[in-house]
Amino acid sequence: MLQLEFFPRTELRSLLDFQRLGSSLLPLADRRRLAHSLEFYQSPKANDIIRRQHADLVDQILGLRLRYIEEMLIAEAQGFEPEGSVDTWGPGIHSGIQTWVGLDLQTLQTPYSECLRIVQLLRIKPYQHVIDLGAAYGRMGIVIGGLYPKNSFLGYEYVGARVDEGNRVYGELGFSRCQLVQQDLFDPLFELPEADAYFIYDYGQVEHIDRNLRQLEAIARKRPVKVVVRGKFTKQIIADRHPWLDLKYQGRLEEFFSVYTAYIG
Ligand SMILES: C[S@@+](CC[C@H](N)C(=O)[O-])C[C@H]1O[C@@H](n2cnc3c(N)ncnc32)[C@H](O)[C@@H]1O
Repeated sequence: MLQLEFFPRTELRSLLDFQRLGSSLLPLADRRRLAHSLEFYQSPKANDIIRRQHADLVDQILGLRLRYIEEMLIAEAQGFEPEGSVDTWGPGIHSGIQTWVGLDLQTLQTPYSECLRIVQLLRIKPYQHVIDLGAAYGRMGIVIGGLYPKNSFLGYEYVGARVDEGNRVYGELGFSRCQLVQQDLFDPLFELPEADAYFIYDYGQVEHIDRNLRQLEAIARKRPVKVVVRGKFTKQIIADRHPWLDLKYQGRLEEFFSVYTAYIG
């Protein structure tokens, strides 16, 4: 049971418990305490609807201003293309890059409970480094910063407003080893840094993902890597073009992500 200032005997067993905490912004000390507790990232039930609702409430409790930022992005995109949609708005305002402006926030991002399951499955050791390619607001970094404070996290994201908001919350929570960086992953000058584990959730077009996977292949020639892939799109690209990645885990209950490993050297 968590001891918070506002809710001294706090249980996190049902969505109602999370709703109670999200009804107004908690003092920072309480948000920090929650962010460091395992139960905070566990969904009360495993089904997809509850996992998404739980993730939405965790965002609210942590004070992430996602809706406001996404509405600003939609308004900007509608200014250019009033009849557009989620397929066209992102590319319309972000130089052709598919940034998924207008997509439901819980589809845009991986639920916290799944981020938790992923890092648990990765069995990351202290001081290992994790990179998210196309990180949006950096949920994976919240879980790592909260539960694996000796590890470091770097998330690349094209949309500057998402990067700033994620970094603001990392700063508030004191996650000094977590960082989001504004970066076009398809920039010809971009060089993918080495890391112990990479996370990819269908962030862009086939040729973008394919190029980053080629960069990853070069890294896997020097050192072992783990790669977590969420989304059908990237899994298909791997099946078609990247046999160097060994499938080690395919979610059954989760169904959404797969874990690959590689060390070609
Ligand atoms: C489906 S979301 C996944 C977010 C996060 N990885 C998660 O699972 O919660 C993909 C993100 O990749 C970003 N993205 C797409 N193309 C990109 C590019 N070329 N460079 C950097 N980010 C990109 C999008 O803006 C979006 O926020």
